[in-house]
Amino acid sequence: MTAGELLELQVGAPAAGGSCVARAPDGRVVFVRHSLPGERVMAAVTSSTTSFLRADAVEVLDPSPDRVEPPCEYARPGRCGGCDWQHVALPVQRQLKAALVDEQLRRLAGVERPVEVEEVPGAPAGLGWRTRVQFSVAPSGRAGLCRHRSHEQEPVERCLIATPEVEQVGAERRLWPGACAVEVAADGAQRVVSVTSREGARRGRPQMPDVEAGVVVDGSPVRLPHGIRHHVLGRRFEVAAGGFWQVHPGAAEVLARSVLDVLAPQPGERALDLYAGVGLFAAFLGERVGPSGAVLAVEVDARACADAARNTADQPHVRIRTAAVSPAEVARSGRPDLVVLDPPRAGAGLEVTHALAALRPRRLAYVACDPASFARDLRVLLDVGWELRSLRAFDLYPMTEHVEIVAALTPPQF
Ligand SMILES: C[S@@+](CC[C@H](N)C(=O)[O-])C[C@H]1O[C@@H](n2cnc3c(N)ncnc32)[C@H](O)[C@@H]1O
Repeated sequence: MTAGELLELQVGAPAAGGSCVARAPDGRVVFVRHSLPGERVMAAVTSSTTSFLRADAVEVLDPSPDRVEPPCEYARPGRCGGCDWQHVALPVQRQLKAALVDEQLRRLAGVERPVEVEEVPGAPAGLGWRTRVQFSVAPSGRAGLCRHRSHEQEPVERCLIATPEVEQVGAERRLWPGACAVEVAADGAQRVVSVTSREGARRGRPQMPDVEAGVVVDGSPVRLPHGIRHHVLGRRFEVAAGGFWQVHPGAAEVLARSVLDVLAPQPGERALDLYAGVGLFAAFLGERVGPSGAVLAVEVDARACADAARNTADQPHVRIRTAAVSPAEVARSGRPDLVVLDPPRAGAGLEVTHALAALRPRRLAYVACDPASFARDLRVLLDVGWELRSLRAFDLYPMTEHVEIVAALTPPQF
């Protein structure tokens, strides 16, 4: 089967990646985007391998009752790849995410545990929530978003999941000659644009349109501000342009609260925060363990570490270490009572997870943005006798298939 070929398909369960699964007439699995479980669709093949096909539902013959008109004009077959589920009613998006988490837990960790995906305030109707958006820039200088599984650009006039403050910069409606990427971050009136030069254009700076925002080019400040101050649960966090911060406006608070709830830090305890970013969890752990306790935060990005040091400067018992998390790094972290880890999508990996198992903290909180890599790491801990005490899942990325998990684990005999 070649790209563009049409197939009539009966669509089944959702799959990781935002598609649903169907069977082609030759028996191969087909991952069908823009479809819903139970639908019969005409699907255009977009790519194929010997074992599976990818396709876009281009006509819906039997629609699901859960189907809605996508609010975004670019969320269509072959167009913007940013959102997976604009065609799905919001509560059903959460049910699909829950089904995906259930499946990964069962398949990869051997855990049978029904999951509810919780709504997080700050995204009415699932739109206007993204406080950070990365645009690709075409050689013409036009900023846009990427098509699904492609570097090809979809020119857009606006992004409906971006916050109004991000949209006020209007990056997609301006030209950025000499740039290859532009990230816009905003919180209230603060706005910062982080520009990456096109290779070969580095000697001559990209030309900046006149935007009402701070500007940073290739990490060098051009116009102030060159970072954003966020406020979470009474604390201030500075994040340099291009640095990591959760994109949903309610995310930092809901994750910090959940981590503190499950770890229940006590004065005098020692805590380890791995993949610490700008110190979100380290700062709150520091408050709870107090000066008689200690927090060690490990983060690979030097700029994030500098922000983390500033964000915890009021707490000398919080130490920031610039390092890649590795089994050796975990082993030299002492004997923490508490561990929180919040790795990127690839998860902590088997070796780091084995090293964590050997630490035997009183309690460990695993914050995960990828259910599959989380379930793989969870399996390592369960196999050596750890117990999964709680698991919550949050809808921090409405309109997409993504979901955030906070799980609490204890070692044997705790
Ligand atoms: C999902 S973010 C979490 C940040 C922070 N916990 C927060 O909620 O704001 C993951 C962080 O891990 C960092 N990171 C990625 N790979 C790493 C590694 N191998 N070792 C240490 N940090 C890493 C990234 O720079 C990023 O700051």
